[in-house]
Amino acid sequence: MEHGVTVQSCVIASSKRDFGDTGGVIPEYAARKQVECVLPVIEKALKDADVTPADLDGIAVTTCPGLLGSLLVGTTTARTLGALWKLPVIPVHHTLGHLSSSWLSAADAPQFPILTLSVSGGHTDVWYRTSHLTGKRVGATVDDAAGEAFDKGAVLLGLGYPGGPQLAALAKSGNERAHKFPVPMHDSDDFSFSGLKTSLKYLLRDSKQPLTPQYKADIAASYEFAICTHLLTQLERSLKAHPDIREVHIVGGVSANERLRAMAALLCKKYSKTLRTPSKLVYCTDNGAMIAAAGEFLLLEDASWAGRPFLTAPTASLAGLLRS
Ligand code: KG4
Ligand code: ZN
Repeated sequence: MEHGVTVQSCVIASSKRDFGDTGGVIPEYAARKQVECVLPVIEKALKDADVTPADLDGIAVTTCPGLLGSLLVGTTTARTLGALWKLPVIPVHHTLGHLSSSWLSAADAPQFPILTLSVSGGHTDVWYRTSHLTGKRVGATVDDAAGEAFDKGAVLLGLGYPGGPQLAALAKSGNERAHKFPVPMHDSDDFSFSGLKTSLKYLLRDSKQPLTPQYKADIAASYEFAICTHLLTQLERSLKAHPDIREVHIVGGVSANERLRAMAALLCKKYSKTLRTPSKLVYCTDNGAMIAAAGEFLLLEDASWAGRPFLTAPTASLAGLLRS
């Protein structure tokens, strides 16, 4: 990674296929797999970028939030290689990685102030930022994350894991107006998805109709539409509250969703704001390039990050990391 924008290589070892039958990640198993994969992935990333450790300025690593075993594999590897290669190790908050993903291979530099909707399997937040490290969180989910709503909905519909892409694929042949799901939080800028999931559960439980492929697709489309409507209704509230913003970014695994992108494009057109999503689908879901970019931005805005005692770096709360 160079200047937080130029991606020289991006190698991902995914355990998605391993968890197709379990309906979710088994933390201990995932961490053991990571122990096996981490060094080959680093070697390949160096080889693909055609660099050696001597060419590096630092190693960025996710410190939180996440599954403890996986975080330990990553941080232990980074600290060991940092000591061996005499490189600073830069602790990065996972969400700051997602917030940085819209810079990856971007054709032109994003312009602050930016309103970013960060939607993944673990979090759903809106951030107002005047630089990488200054700004505030202006909305967050009070229960499930948007990706979780997709994944849990997919389980209820009998689809595989991870559910988001499969539910979205099924929704393509459905009618989004077939079922009306409740859209919550009319008096707040925050998000809530647990009621939506419960509505889907009861709809399926109480339905007298056989679950034909078309009926299932209609339900998937209506459910996806409700998630997107809720995300964008709340984003619009924040947009109105921050008219000075120049760009709207949507990042995180759910930003790969086509319906969300299409609906967000209409919203941004209405307010004459530039809409940016990660330049490649692979940068929407978890990847190392976004963590490296965030590491570079941390150093750019505050060089002391490279010298901070690793375990006391204030990454535990991203909201605490941003200065107002
Ligand atoms: O950012 P991410 O890779 O991991 C976390 O930080 O959680 O996001 C993964 C989430 C999963 O919940 C997955 O179902 C969802 O992103 N996702 C999607 C799509 N692709 C991934 N949700 C809806 N539509 C998609 N196309
Ligand atoms: Zn993520």
